[in-house]
Amino acid sequence: MKVGIFGRGRLGTTIAHEFGQAPNWELLWHVDRGEDPGAKVDVAIDASVSNAVPSHLDWAVATSTDLVIGTTGWTLPNLAAQINGHIGVLVAPNFSLSVALMARLSTVLGRFAALDETLDPYLLEHHHRAKMDAPSGTAKRLAAAVIEGCPRKTKWTLGSPGANELNIAVLRAGSEFGMHTVGLDGPAETLSVVHQARSRALFAQGALRAAAWLRGRKGLHTFDEVAAEVLAPLFDSLFSTPSTPEL
Ligand SMILES: NC(=O)c1ccc[n+]([C@@H]2O[C@H](COP(=O)([O-])OP(=O)(O)OC[C@H]3O[C@@H](n4cnc5c(N)ncnc54)[C@H](OP(=O)(O)O)[C@@H]3O)[C@@H](O)[C@H]2O)c1
Repeated sequence: MKVGIFGRGRLGTTIAHEFGQAPNWELLWHVDRGEDPGAKVDVAIDASVSNAVPSHLDWAVATSTDLVIGTTGWTLPNLAAQINGHIGVLVAPNFSLSVALMARLSTVLGRFAALDETLDPYLLEHHHRAKMDAPSGTAKRLAAAVIEGCPRKTKWTLGSPGANELNIAVLRAGSEFGMHTVGLDGPAETLSVVHQARSRALFAQGALRAAAWLRGRKGLHTFDEVAAEVLAPLFDSLFSTPSTPEL
């Protein structure tokens, strides 16, 4: 598989390092700001900055190159129309399978909060001081998952929340790769799910998994679809298998 990478920052460099350990993968080019992509590749991976994503997408359509977008902090409302089934594009605000699992759990937490108005769902994220966008793409994804499960929350907010708003608290400090907490806070109990990335290699491996998955597929896809193939069986029969309680 021939690959090109946009962005020689923290994420792009970590993805490039993975190529040494992946025998069937070939990194043909790795460009930064102001540099042009080289030879034709099977898939390009965007690990750059939000304002560069539209031009990388234009390039992908013009050169018929499939594109995995790991960069966060951008919105393109007409993305599906722009691609028009011509190429494959996979959008992944987080390349971790565990975070994809956390998104599913967040919807379940949201559904649980929907049963009891005294339970407040919330989100907390911490990233290193150089991260440009806030809240993180992952926090927005997790917030959408909670809201999907809890109809009384219709949108998220960074400030003091109204009754229909899900509060996201953002911390930018130090060297943290990425920590996300989705929780429920009620008068008698709290429940939270925490994910903390320990290494960027996690994201790099997920980027290659996404690139492999995208091969041969056209149209707009998300990392959630990649993860669903692994995660869906984990949810089978959760409530139908009798378990013997230990007392
Ligand atoms: N999906 C995931 O799992 C995941 C994980 C981690 C991070 N991210 C996201 O990935 C993106 C990159 O993160 P990072 O930590 O690597 O940021 P970073 O260290 O700031 O790296 C971004 C790099 O992109 C370069 N760049 C700017 N414009 C470009 C262009 N037009 N073409 C190619 N490269 C360009 C920057 O160069 P200059 O320094 O000259 O601007 C910089 O070297 C961010 O949006 C981040 O939120 C996603």
